[in-house]
Parts: sequence; structure tokens; C-alpha cells
Amino acid sequence: MTKKLAFWIFLVGTLSSAAIFLWLTWDTHRQVNALAHVENLSPQVVAGKRIFEKYNCNDCHTILGFGGYYAPDLTKVVRRLGPAGVRMRVNSPEKIFADSFRKMPRQGVTAEELDQLVAFLTWVGNIDNGDWPPQDSRVRLTRGEQRLVAQVGISAGAAVFQAAGCMNCHSLNGVGGAVGPALDTIGRELSPAEIKQFVHNPHGIDPTSPMPPQTQLTDTELDEVANFLAGLK
Ligand code: HEC
Ligand code: HEC
Repeated sequence: MTKKLAFWIFLVGTLSSAAIFLWLTWDTHRQVNALAHVENLSPQVVAGKRIFEKYNCNDCHTILGFGGYYAPDLTKVVRRLGPAGVRMRVNSPEKIFADSFRKMPRQGVTAEELDQLVAFLTWVGNIDNGDWPPQDSRVRLTRGEQRLVAQVGISAGAAVFQAAGCMNCHSLNGVGGAVGPALDTIGRELSPAEIKQFVHNPHGIDPTSPMPPQTQLTDTELDEVANFLAGLK
């Protein structure tokens, strides 16, 4: 290769890479408003971002990959755990993570601040980020939940049941919360279709039901969890 050819390869390579980089940067900025759904940036969402900063959640957690790498990424946390699951963890981390080697402090977040935090995390979760960073949409179980999986067996539905935060309120084999009824024998009372309908919209079946609608679940996840529960007899 002559020196002249090397020079031209360098020049054309650098300029074309720079042009592609600039074009992609411009293209991202052009789409940012639509991808981030800026129309949903309510005052509550903005207040939630301030609360996130006030308590330095970012010291340990990341959002869209930015922040501390000590604790799980929170980009899709509302999708993963549901609003009730997030509330539960912020209010009583010492209980939920009692079995974990990592610790999260209880910081005395007030009820109003928690509403704002959940609104903020919900908005963040709806950013169309092309599932990046990819690890944050994986189902993550605490040790107590892993023990439960070992007891009841591993299935897609069991994983949804634990990851969606159902255990904040319901128990299986004596493990879980006591806000709602234990579901050990729910398959004797309800069919998969009835369970699916109820979980998706409890108030459609019973307008006074204290169970919050589990709107974070996809149709497939609803089917999986309903089939799992209907099998418990
Ligand atoms: C000192 C570090 C630290 C701070 C500060 C902190 N957390 Fe955490 N958080 C953790 C750790 C560690 C875990 C995971 C524990 C485990 O699963 O082992 C966690 C877990 C969570 C989870 C569950 C995530 C999941 O995917 O299961 C949520 C939600 C959460 N934190 C929210 C918050 C919020 C909101 C704040 C700020 C008010 C906050 N955290 C501040 C350390 C922290
Ligand atoms: C914040 C607490 C809470 C969460 C989270 C929760 N539930 Fe419930 N659930 C309840 C309460 C309370 C009831 C009793 C409601 C009633 O009888 O109307 C209930 C009732 C039920 C029932 C009907 C039980 C029966 O005997 O008729 C099913 C099935 C059920 N929940 C499944 C789920 C699943 C699956 C999830 C997770 C995706 C979930 N629940 C999350 C509180 C909760």
C-alpha cells in the first residue's frame, strides 16, 4: 500500500464515519419528543424526578443506564413490579430485601412523594428505549422469591406471579403478604379465564374489590399467571 492510498483510506473513512455519526445524532434528537412521550410530562412526573434527586436514588440505581451500578436499573421497574411493588420496596426495603446481601436504606419517603416517584418511574418506563439497557427487563427474584420458586416449581406463570408483585399481597405455601387471600387452592374456585379477567380488572367483577388492577401485565403474562394459579388445587 502506498502512503497516498493510506492517507485517502484514512480521510474517507474518518469523514464518512463522522457524517454517519452526526446524522444519527440529528435523527435521534429529531425523534426524542415522540420516543419519550413528552406530552405525558405532567407536573407530578416532574415533581417525581425532583424526589428521585432529593433522595439520591441515583447513587445506587441507574435510569437508562445512568447512575450507580450497585442496585438494579429502574428504567422498567414499574413494568417489572407494578406500582404497588415499587411502593412496597421503597416503604419497607428492610423487609423485602431482608435476605439479600445488598442493602437499600429506608429513607422516610412520604406518601405524596411516593406518588410522585411512581408517576416519574411510570413515565420513564414508557420511554421507547429499544429495550436498552437490555438487562433491566429481565425478571429478577429476591432470595425469598427464589425459595418460593423452588417450592412451587418453576413456570412462566410462577415467575410472573412473583415478579409482578402479587406476593406483596398474596401468599403461597405461607410465603408472601397477607393483604389479599392466600391463593394455595384458588384453582378449585376459579377457572383460568375467570382469574385472568379478575386480575386484569378486579373492579369489572366486583366494583368494591380492594385489589388494584394489574395493568402492568401483558396479555401473554395474564394468561401465564392465570394458568399457573388455576393449577393450584
Ligand atoms: C444505598 C443504596 C440505595 C439507595 C440510595 C436506594 N436504593 Fe433502591 N435498592 C438498593 C438495592 C441494593 C436494591 C436491590 C436489593 C436486592 O434485590 O438485593 C434496591 C432495590 C430497589 C427496587 C426494586 C428493584 C427491582 O428491580 O427489584 C426499587 C423499586 C428501588 N430500589 C427504588 C429506590 C428508590 C425510589 C430510591 C430513592 C428513594 C432508592 N431505591 C434508593 C439500593 C439503594
Ligand atoms: C395491593 C395488594 C394486591 C396485589 C398487588 C395483588 N392482589 Fe390479588 N387481591 C388482593 C385483595 C385484597 C384481594 C381480595 C379482593 C376481593 O375479594 O375482591 C385479591 C384477590 C385476588 C384473586 C381472587 C381471590 C379469590 O379468592 O377470589 C386473585 C385470583 C388474585 N387476587 C390474583 C392476583 C395476582 C395474579 C396478582 C399479581 C399480578 C395480584 N392478585 C396482585 C390484593 C392484591
